[in-house]
Amino acid sequence: MKVIKANDYDAMSKKAAEFIYEAIKNKPDITLGLATGSTPHRMYDYLADKLNENKIDLSKVHTVNLDEYVGLGEGDPQSYHHFMHEEFFDKVDIPLENTHLPNGKAGDLETETENYEQLIKDLGGIDLQLLGVGRNGHIGFNEPGTPFDSTTQVVGLTDLTIQDNSRFFERVEDVPTEALSMGLKTIMDTKSILFLASGEGKRDAVDALLNGEVTEEIPVTILRNHEDVTVIVDKAAAGE
Ligand code: GLP
Repeated sequence: MKVIKANDYDAMSKKAAEFIYEAIKNKPDITLGLATGSTPHRMYDYLADKLNENKIDLSKVHTVNLDEYVGLGEGDPQSYHHFMHEEFFDKVDIPLENTHLPNGKAGDLETETENYEQLIKDLGGIDLQLLGVGRNGHIGFNEPGTPFDSTTQVVGLTDLTIQDNSRFFERVEDVPTEALSMGLKTIMDTKSILFLASGEGKRDAVDALLNGEVTEEIPVTILRNHEDVTVIVDKAAAGE
């Protein structure tokens, strides 16, 4: 695991954008695994600017997102579909047909999870997966106790995650209680991982990732078993 410490959120965002930019330049047909949340928000700004300024050809780039809320779709402002369009897809020239998220409005969610796994396989696997982390150590929406051998699945959200994510909704009751998420095995099968964390609230999760025992009780610790992980954290998340 390579650990890079950045001074603050802005510096973390810049370094992360630089990292992904270089990966795209080195592999123009890269398949990127993408993530949502406050953590990658500014990184997407920097990355979009850099790709546009340098007129990088994105016609062969594919993207697959980690997760989506069950019941929310493109039209819902709180959906991850909407987030990705607002924050990234609408700003860059990646063909929209190359961008993928699980469909939270699929009539048959089980089939949707199987199709999503198949899609990732058909794309030849994920070259670089971007990850944030929840305060309880969840990655994607894989909450504590999720089996390490899980693939894309329907998951229930914990009260803590619902509370944390309620800041994006009008009322806590509006937060969906389920999501579709790549599983922990899906994440471990990616060729490389870029993990980001910012702010004091992520200290425990970062400490578990860097120093803890590998345990299903703290999903992020599984990354200790992955051979190509780059961690970029700001000082607050690193406990400094
Ligand atoms: C959500 C997402 C995760 C994300 C986490 C942390 O639950 N499903 O992918 O890493 O929240 O979000 P934030 O970056 O907003 O703290």
